[in-house]
Amino acid sequence: MVALAVLALATGGSAQLQYGFYKNKCNASDVEAVVRGIVKARFAREAPIVAYLLRLQFHECAVNGCDGGLLIDGPGTEKTAPPNLSVKGYDLIAAVKAELERRCPGVVSCSDIEILATRDAVALAGGPAYTVRTGRRDRRQSRASDVKLPGSEYTAAQAIAYYAKLGMTAYDTVVLLGAHTVGATHCSSIKNSRLYGYGGKMGATDPAMDPTLASTYKKYVCPNVTSSNGNTVYLDDQWSALKVDKQLLQKLAARPWSSPRRPEPLSRRLHAWVRRPARKQQRPLPVAVCKGAGEAQRGKCAHWHAG
Ligand code: HEM
Repeated sequence: MVALAVLALATGGSAQLQYGFYKNKCNASDVEAVVRGIVKARFAREAPIVAYLLRLQFHECAVNGCDGGLLIDGPGTEKTAPPNLSVKGYDLIAAVKAELERRCPGVVSCSDIEILATRDAVALAGGPAYTVRTGRRDRRQSRASDVKLPGSEYTAAQAIAYYAKLGMTAYDTVVLLGAHTVGATHCSSIKNSRLYGYGGKMGATDPAMDPTLASTYKKYVCPNVTSSNGNTVYLDDQWSALKVDKQLLQKLAARPWSSPRRPEPLSRRLHAWVRRPARKQQRPLPVAVCKGAGEAQRGKCAHWHAG
């Protein structure tokens, strides 16, 4: 599916990166095959790993670039910022890192592992088999105060403005948000913004929501009582909640969307995008990549110094 291909948000990003960066750098091991093997085993027993990794990658790369900063444990690190408290998948990254450290210590960065593992999980979940460039270094910096991620109350215009600051167009934004074709959210994220307080109006439901879906949520899953806050709902329909599919984008494409800054209907551009070969969809996006001298690879992704 299309949407995730734009995960070039992290897969491209810099002319310094290259395809197959780790080739012949890890003794006799094929780094990408090692990552793939571990992700595959995990996916077989826990398919939601694809959603965990996609979200992890976004929360990683949107804050100071894809630099491994989200993985660091400790007081005041990115991981401790409120939007990151529900991020999952850290253990998978740690498991891959441990295996690679065993095979070739100090070679593969945690940020590259995030990118490779997400790519593999997306393919396993029915998404496109896209290629990624590697060669990132991990930054020795991780501050909760840097974490400024969009919230569930964001309007489309706010989301477009947010991604514009990362150098992306309205079109990119829609495609990126297509990542929500997998995974789940909590009622607390949608009760106020979508079901009972849309647009700041008490009792209002987002008119863009499918009325049947909205009424099902209101009646059964997210009734307007505090005790429903922790209940989970799929971000896409329940039958494809673990499948990286085209449905969300197709629905979006069917609507007469347009961005204030770009008058051409997004639907037309989405259709054009869908028809493009996968490789061309991976336009490098301007997300920072850390590759400077003085940046160290660490032995464990969650600690600065651990060997
Ligand atoms: C305006 C931008 C975005 C907003 C407001 C947003 C908001 C959210 C919210 C509120 C959740 C549910 C969290 C929870 O209840 O625990 C969520 C989940 C998720 N988000 Fe986003 N998100 C955005 C962009 C993205 C992007 C760019 C990606 C990936 C490319 C992404 C991937 C995911 C995934 C896969 C999940 C499901 C995670 C799971 O099931 O554990 N999101 N998002």
